[in-house]
Amino acid sequence: MRGHIKLALASRIGEIDPRLYGSFIEHLGRAVYQGIYDPENPHADAQGFRQDVIDAVKQLNVPIVRYPGGNFVSGYNWEDGIGPKDQRPTRLDLAWRSKETNAFGLHEFVDWAKQANTSVNLAVNLGTRGADAARNLVEYCNFPGGTYYSDLRKQNGAAEPFHIKTWCLGNEMDGPWQIGAKTAYEYGRLANETAKVMKWVDDSIELVACGSSSMDNPTFGNWEETVLEETYDNIDYLSLHRYYGNQDNDLANYLAQSLDLDQFIRSVIAICDAVKARKRSNKTINLSMDEWNVWYHSANQDKQIAPWQLAPPLLEDIYNFEDALLVGELLITLLKHADRVKIACLAQLVNVIAPIMTTPEGVWLQSIFYPFMQVSEYGRGVALALQSESKTYASKSFDAVPYLESTATVDEKARIITIFAVNRSQTDALTLETEFSDIKPLGVVKATQFCGYDVKETNENGQMAIVENQNVSVDTTLKAELQPLSWNVIRVN
Ligand code: AHR
Repeated sequence: MRGHIKLALASRIGEIDPRLYGSFIEHLGRAVYQGIYDPENPHADAQGFRQDVIDAVKQLNVPIVRYPGGNFVSGYNWEDGIGPKDQRPTRLDLAWRSKETNAFGLHEFVDWAKQANTSVNLAVNLGTRGADAARNLVEYCNFPGGTYYSDLRKQNGAAEPFHIKTWCLGNEMDGPWQIGAKTAYEYGRLANETAKVMKWVDDSIELVACGSSSMDNPTFGNWEETVLEETYDNIDYLSLHRYYGNQDNDLANYLAQSLDLDQFIRSVIAICDAVKARKRSNKTINLSMDEWNVWYHSANQDKQIAPWQLAPPLLEDIYNFEDALLVGELLITLLKHADRVKIACLAQLVNVIAPIMTTPEGVWLQSIFYPFMQVSEYGRGVALALQSESKTYASKSFDAVPYLESTATVDEKARIITIFAVNRSQTDALTLETEFSDIKPLGVVKATQFCGYDVKETNENGQMAIVENQNVSVDTTLKAELQPLSWNVIRVN
């Protein structure tokens, strides 16, 4: 089978915001406790941060991490997580039916983020709380000093403000499962008033309003429209959440799900721009895909877990090779919309639907770790608009699924082009030819492939690896052999 790409440096989608490679840590299951924070573990430092986890997080090079939820945030009092640890209350976390000791809170997360070379995307509680708690939190985090909350921060050991720039106005407020769920109008009004006062405390912050928690929610579309009508002038981004699963064991259709993500993103952009037009506004609302991943493997095992435990092993999906291929495709799809999707958070980072898993002895890396690591490393700079052609197939949900899924980025400083490509064919290799219209490639810097595994194989034994692809050559065009069911990264200068 053949695939063809036409690539021109002049065909730019746009600058890639590094926050496209963000992730997410929620107080959920073993993400915080036994995950990033485990004072009793031999790998932990004096603050209780597991250094083996930090090393793995650094490999993923995530520039921003959303915290503290998720559903958790809609019942969270941020004040519970500050001050002397022995005075912090243990609470019921109603979102995940667990116990929360609050031994880990805001200061710990800010310190952890520094160690992990990342920044904080902080969510405020708009489920049980509102504008007052949110503006106090901004004052606590970002105001230099001389006021009640900024001095309280200093008293708690942080003389300098945290300078948190990106904030989420609640979480999935459209979902009936959410603590304090709201109608679009109720949420829109509250989000707008909260946004206003948060920005009055610090006008340098950026705010993400909740879009729909899934395109399948019955309120999708109307929700976005109403929320934008209410909040347009005071917010900067609208969120999207989307999780995928191969419940039907239909690989052809599962690997087509990046087309669903593409459709979701296009639909939300259309709504944002329709409201912009109606408001005769010059301001463009961009997108924050602040939860995305595969999530379905753990659904049954989670039903067996007794409530009200500390750090129960919830949402511990063990990912296989087909999941890694889909994650690669979803990353390609995000890059194709880099002009409008400025923030994205792989949900989540450690133990909970995560690329990094911990045991008391150490960490192990899931299959999905590898495509994420490569796109986060090489997919920086400018996203290019390719013309890509290949044969298509029909799947259960889509009429024409191209066997070749691809995109490219250019690092203009280093003058290196990176092509990311998935061959969806379960049987045939794909001979990829890439034509360059306004650049003469000098050579192949590196070409790798991730392939050859059974689609249901997991990486619990650590045997998975990205290997070199020897079948890549370049003269005036680039020719590459892409194995069936493969994730490929080709870098040329
Ligand atoms: O990431 C797991 C959960 O998925 C989050 O808490 C929630 O926002 C979403 O439903």
